[in-house]
Amino acid sequence: MDLKNLIREIPNFPKSGILFRDITTLLSDPESLHYTIDILAEKCLEFQPNYIVGIESRGFIFGVPLAYKLNVGFVPVRKPGKLPAAVYSVTYDLEYGQDTLEMHQDAMAAGSRVLVIDDLLATGGTAAATAQLIEKASCNLVGFGFVIELKDLGGRQKLPEVPIVSLIEY
Ligand code: PRP
Ligand code: MG
Repeated sequence: MDLKNLIREIPNFPKSGILFRDITTLLSDPESLHYTIDILAEKCLEFQPNYIVGIESRGFIFGVPLAYKLNVGFVPVRKPGKLPAAVYSVTYDLEYGQDTLEMHQDAMAAGSRVLVIDDLLATGGTAAATAQLIEKASCNLVGFGFVIELKDLGGRQKLPEVPIVSLIEY
């Protein structure tokens, strides 16, 4: 199955000059959704994670079914102010301004094997910040999984030296 055919391309969104890769067309097609989760699971099984860490919000869409399929726990990394208990927090630079991500301090025992899932690897800022959260929690980052990777933006180079799975490359 060629997943690329199911990613809709929207020119000039969210701003002029950007070609947006829209996963909603993949998600609404039952066969493609099944296939995406199955192939992610197949490629990520060997990392033997204890937890899937999914990044708000599109990382939740793929992270939870993957955790269910691999029979491991799911831990959300959230935008600031959303998690109720004590959090680790990482602030990172964007093209314009900064962003912050948070994770519950007690979500995973130290030393847990963690696989990070998101829909998209673009500049790598979001995934790199998540790797820092996992380090703060003294957990063992074993890999990253993305549905889409935008190669030209060089996100991979920003990430720690662990295996990176991406299903669709542009
Ligand atoms: C998008 C995407 C990734 C991130 C990738 O999330 O879902 O999480 O950007 O970009 P980067 O590699 O340059 O950091 P966004 O912040 O738009 O929010 P959303 O997931 O809530 O839609
Ligand atoms: Mg996102």
